[in-house]
Amino acid sequence: IFSQVPQAPADPILGLTDAFKKDTRSEKVNLGVGIYKDEAGQTPVLKSVKKAEAILLEAEKTKNYLGIEGVEQYNAVVQTLLFGQGSDIINDKRAFTAQAPGGTGSLRVAAEFLVRNTESKTLWVSNPTWANHQNIFQTAGLSIKEYGYYKAETHDMDFDAMITDLQSAQAGDLILLHGCCHNPTGIDLDAAQWEIVGQLCADKELVPLFDFAYQGFGAGIEEDAQGLRIVAAKVPELLIANSFSKNFGLYNERIGAVTIVAADEDAAQKSFSQIKKTIRATYSNPPAHGGLIVSTILSDDSLRQEWESELTEMRQRIAEMRTLFVETLKSEGVDQDFSFISRQNGMFSFSGLNKDQVNRLKDEFAVYIVGSGRISVAGMTKQNIPVICKAIAQVI
Ligand code: LMR
Repeated sequence: IFSQVPQAPADPILGLTDAFKKDTRSEKVNLGVGIYKDEAGQTPVLKSVKKAEAILLEAEKTKNYLGIEGVEQYNAVVQTLLFGQGSDIINDKRAFTAQAPGGTGSLRVAAEFLVRNTESKTLWVSNPTWANHQNIFQTAGLSIKEYGYYKAETHDMDFDAMITDLQSAQAGDLILLHGCCHNPTGIDLDAAQWEIVGQLCADKELVPLFDFAYQGFGAGIEEDAQGLRIVAAKVPELLIANSFSKNFGLYNERIGAVTIVAADEDAAQKSFSQIKKTIRATYSNPPAHGGLIVSTILSDDSLRQEWESELTEMRQRIAEMRTLFVETLKSEGVDQDFSFISRQNGMFSFSGLNKDQVNRLKDEFAVYIVGSGRISVAGMTKQNIPVICKAIAQVI
């Protein structure tokens, strides 16, 4: 039976890391997967995380199962990060949160819940979107439609196309929105545009599903939640899948959360009972460590402060790399205007490089970027930028 199973294609992002590991060239650079590197090219454990782990190691008394929804205190701190201190949604108990394995696990739980318990079977995603989105949602049984988002000629947002496309969505359709630091373009809606999208969702009875994986990597923790909070204030129902892979550097702990907001506490509680049923059928209950780290840090003033300053440092270093990248391309003799890269947010830059150029970067120069032309700026350092820019100058 298994001999009939065909080979699956390599994953567009993680498959690149596999190829990178096998590459024996010494000057190789991996700007594929979104992983933050410091100036030394390392992805160290944050100091605040190490301290929280020391506290947990000392205090841990059992490896007993968590409840299906995970660490209780974690779910409370997640809601405060999402909706803000004193939020009406929290006070009115319209939101319920379950700890889940990373952003991907959270999105998948949300999708499974929707497919099994609602009439919402169509999900609109931006074109382009994260390379794993369609895979997650189609595997769960949702059908996908795309809305315009990006204008290649100007390297800018195509907000008109977004709105025009979403006008044809039907009541009950799901709209996937990137909370901040849009992956892969790095181009986000401004507050006025979020207002328009939120109103459109409310008027047409569309259900927003937020993928919120980069809080703190755009402008700041509160600033980056602006879009989510604007939309959440306008619609009765939404879902959020958030991740702490990037902003706590907890990549391999697989720590995220799925949050459902309903019109009132009763509807939210009933929907959450179905989310718990989905989780029980999928992985039973989440692993504890990541949730305990995040809740320990966010519940302690001094650890929280330390984490915030580490997050600021990461954000500022990426912004610095954006500027240096644009300047170095110029000094390598690239005439093409790449200044748009300095205006993009978060870990990624949508470079506009085409498939041939991307392949040449890999094959001739051992510089790995995603096939769509997405570059992880978070993987750049002062040391590798000259290598990267020289290679780009050769392929364009
Ligand atoms: C990325 O987009 O590179 C990250 O979100 C990591 C992943 O799982 O793809």
